[in-house]
Amino acid sequence: MSYIVGNWKANHNLASALAFVTELKDLQQAQRQKNNYADQTNIAIIAPPALFLVPLAQKIAELNLHLGLAIQDLSSDDSGAHTGQIVATNLTELGVGYAIIGHSEARAESNQTTAQIAQKVAQALTHSLRPILCLDEPYLQSQADLIPDDQKSRCIVAFEPLSAIGTGQPFTPQNASLVIKKIKTIFGATVPVLYGGSVDPQNISSYLAISDGVLVGSASLRAESFNQLWQARAN
Ligand code: PGA
Repeated sequence: MSYIVGNWKANHNLASALAFVTELKDLQQAQRQKNNYADQTNIAIIAPPALFLVPLAQKIAELNLHLGLAIQDLSSDDSGAHTGQIVATNLTELGVGYAIIGHSEARAESNQTTAQIAQKVAQALTHSLRPILCLDEPYLQSQADLIPDDQKSRCIVAFEPLSAIGTGQPFTPQNASLVIKKIKTIFGATVPVLYGGSVDPQNISSYLAISDGVLVGSASLRAESFNQLWQARAN
């Protein structure tokens, strides 16, 4: 069982987001009719722009598609006087199950500190959202040091080397595997650790072989490509 997480970042509009899930359903139905559907156990999740979470949750339920939803970031604060913030407690009731936290783009563009990111993890867990905590080697240990052990064990971690994100130059599976092992020694052997950075339908199998799943940006944007990722297996 692998996690296949599609991070849409600031892509798609409402119409194309809804068309994505309809096409995904159609593709899987067509494959089933041809007995060509890999009835796999991968857990597929998409992280659309936050504004599309509600209409997508409705559409996914309507289509009976087994597709989870993640928010791309969330506030480090609880509900209250925080104008403009998306707080964890408001997400759970919308059918959102996961929260990407600490993506390198969010860390850089919003000047997020390791302390704020640790608070986001706590907020997510308090409100029944499973954190997908993104880490790279330079701050792996310092970030982990700020998260209590009982919270570490409830995270999904994504190893996201900066040099591999959006560059078409992924870490080699061998090198990624070394860091994934290190993350498991810090977070616990049972914590799922994903790899992210230039994963696509052609190379995914070698990453599934050394990880518990993948976090994918550009190759998750089209339904056909995401469907291939969803049905991929380790080689
Ligand atoms: P990419 O993005 O797949 O486009 O490299 C990965 C990420 O940002 O998590």
